[in-house]
Amino acid sequence: MAEVVIVKNSRAAGELVADAILSLVASKKNAVLGLATGSTPLPVYQALAERAVGTDFSQVSGFALDEYVGLPASHPESYRSVITREVVEPVGLVPERIRVPNGATETIETAGADYERAIEEAGGVDLQILGIGTDGHIGFNEPGSSFASLTRVKTLTERTRADNARFFDSPDDVPMHCITQGLGTILRARHLVLLAFGEGKADAVAAAIEGPLASILPGSAVQLHPHATIVLDEAAASKLK
Ligand code: F6R
Repeated sequence: MAEVVIVKNSRAAGELVADAILSLVASKKNAVLGLATGSTPLPVYQALAERAVGTDFSQVSGFALDEYVGLPASHPESYRSVITREVVEPVGLVPERIRVPNGATETIETAGADYERAIEEAGGVDLQILGIGTDGHIGFNEPGSSFASLTRVKTLTERTRADNARFFDSPDDVPMHCITQGLGTILRARHLVLLAFGEGKADAVAAAIEGPLASILPGSAVQLHPHATIVLDEAAASKLK
């Protein structure tokens, strides 16, 4: 059973999760963080940047959940750019220790296996930050993803492309494909911390926490994890029974 924590607002959620990360790093200098992109984790990264003074991140490494396929890494909306801008620079992580799946089309066939190997070699993810899509995806594991899946290429749903169009000049610029850690990859992390804010996430949250375990509800995979913490504001929690 996942632990559900309902907080006042996203800022309070960010502070809570930033403190969990800081206490992890205090007890394990070479902690491995699982980093999510999108809007949801931003308060965590902001709070972490504010509170990180004096913390030694020199041995901390990080793995992003996903990346668009075919978007140059230098594009401002590639997840490589986003992770650098929103997390690595403000928090003061070591750029060489932060990996993002490689979305370059030339090497896409081996990129998934390479990423799995890199996570394994780093000793596995200690704390994985997760957001959830309005269609219930975690990472970019869209409805219908296997609970055993590992890092691989997926097609984004129209709904996810529409949700993410806000980051691009035109909806047509949102890539069609992504490379994402699988649900099986995510479930191997030692601690999952899923955050969600706002009414728009309420259905996806209720399905993930209280719905049946089903590949059509990828977020429900968190029910299989022995140590999952779900941090919500009241609006995102409003459809829980
Ligand atoms: C991002 C990711 C996605 C997002 C989800 C929610 O790395 O894997 O699962 O967490 O699309 O996005 P936001 O937070 O922008 O609502």
